[in-house]
Amino acid sequence: MKQSIAMTVNGVARRDEVEPRLLLVHYLREVAELTGTHVACDTSQCGACIVHLDGKAVKSCSVFAVQASGHSVMTIEGLAPHGSMHPMQQGFWDEHGLQCGFCTPGFIMAAVALIEDNPDPSDADIEKGLEGNLCRCTGYHNIRKAVKSAARAMRGGATSAAAVAPNAAPVGAGAGR
Ligand code: FES
Ligand code: FES
Repeated sequence: MKQSIAMTVNGVARRDEVEPRLLLVHYLREVAELTGTHVACDTSQCGACIVHLDGKAVKSCSVFAVQASGHSVMTIEGLAPHGSMHPMQQGFWDEHGLQCGFCTPGFIMAAVALIEDNPDPSDADIEKGLEGNLCRCTGYHNIRKAVKSAARAMRGGATSAAAVAPNAAPVGAGAGR
């Protein structure tokens, strides 16, 4: 039997009827039609599905949609206003922190949460903070550089979250639907 849920997704209040077993990741992709959040494993290991739940990074494949009811969710689509990039997206762009891009939304959401907790992370801090994310093609060197670049920008350093052309797709928002 379906249950009524209500939550805020990227600042927009939603109310839906869902099966109690529906995972948050499937709710976001199939009900809210926000396909920037990806699914890449059956074992809660890859991190492609990471979103923010009340500001904390969570693997949305390990949370039921009903558990998120009454809470606030942010996906990669909600990270920056339309037509602009968050400093973390800019960092991945500048440092070539992606190849196919499938893992990128999860990395970016995890990295943003990491920087909010630790604005000046060491290489070791980044490796630990992102140990729940797997990338199958880029390797982790440029991802680490991207996070450092973004952290600098978020502290007000030289590398910036430059606005990009209107209608440009946010990094990590569309690859591998
Ligand atoms: S799909 Fe959630 S951890 Fe892999
Ligand atoms: S960029 Fe392809 S899996 Fe990470």
